[in-house]
Amino acid sequence: MPTQGAKNPDLPGPDPLMDLLLGNVETPMLKLPILRAGLELQVWDKIASGHNTAREIAAIAPCDATGIRQLLDALTVMKLLEKTGDEYELPAWAPHYLIPGRPAYLGDFVLDWLAWEGHGQLAEAIRLGKRPIRSDCTRGDMVDHFLPFYAVRAMAPQRYLERHDTCWQTLRIEPREGLRVLDVACGAGIAALALARQHPGVQVFLQDWPPMLELAMEAARKLGVDRQVTRLPGDMASVDYGDRMFDVARLGYVTYFYDSGYLVHLFTRLRKCLAPAGVLVVEAPLADEGRRDREDAVLDGPWLFAISPGGDVYSYSDYESMLRDAGFTRVTRAGEDLLKASRS
Ligand SMILES: C[S@@+](CC[C@H](N)C(=O)[O-])C[C@H]1O[C@@H](n2cnc3c(N)ncnc32)[C@H](O)[C@@H]1O
Repeated sequence: MPTQGAKNPDLPGPDPLMDLLLGNVETPMLKLPILRAGLELQVWDKIASGHNTAREIAAIAPCDATGIRQLLDALTVMKLLEKTGDEYELPAWAPHYLIPGRPAYLGDFVLDWLAWEGHGQLAEAIRLGKRPIRSDCTRGDMVDHFLPFYAVRAMAPQRYLERHDTCWQTLRIEPREGLRVLDVACGAGIAALALARQHPGVQVFLQDWPPMLELAMEAARKLGVDRQVTRLPGDMASVDYGDRMFDVARLGYVTYFYDSGYLVHLFTRLRKCLAPAGVLVVEAPLADEGRRDREDAVLDGPWLFAISPGGDVYSYSDYESMLRDAGFTRVTRAGEDLLKASRS
């Protein structure tokens, strides 16, 4: 239902706002609460255990028969369920991700994600400067939050290789005998593992909290490169990286959780662990300098306020200045969300 522009040409209509509210029934405003209710009512689990009609689910839940039928139909048109006659089934992919207890169960992750602003507490948090709103996602005991998301990657790492292969090509970092690559806060580690896969002489050092490194090792085994991997478990700010150990260090999608003081300290430590010709690669959503245009990056700002004590959306020049403060000499932008800094 796209809205019409105002008839009076002098009075612009509130089209961006109305389109957001009513513009399209596929908008997240309708779909996300439906998804949340489906997860809270555990409909996938109930269907998988043989309760296939709305009436059966209403009886065992127990819940309102009309409400659950409407919800199940909505989930069907969202392709999160399948339906034949009045019987619902799980799509082939769904048992892995929507049945509690499975290694890559995403339900809690999704529910947590949908509550990032504490269900309506963002304005109050901004008013009071009270952050994070719920839990601090930078703490080690919060790693469980990220695990299911990365378990999906660790289960099928091949699916993610191409993106990282392209990224290393863009950075002009060639795999070779003896290349030592450190992936800090690596998640499932696939970025560095992609390089290891291209050359058996590449040595990869994966850093993250211990449970995440278990996932990364699973990915390494699936890719057949686990013997090229060394683990550096713990807090990235205090792990001992040694001196002049690495040719490449990478920080992917983690810097924005931290404030600039923390990042300068981290960049300084990483510079020290790089060989003289070494480079630090940072992959992160880069805001445009005016923070007016790059929706993908700038939209993260309130989210980072809500989930971390100091995270922020940084632009290229913000990173450039932090990296120079940490002693890096040459900083270049290699792509939209990609930059590279040379130790010397
Ligand atoms: C959004 S994920 C990014 C994962 C990966 N680097 C990538 O590019 O996909 C953030 C990762 O940072 C890790 N992390 C965040 N803070 C950390 C810290 N202080 N020490 C170690 N790991 C940390 C988390 O455990 C998680 O694996």
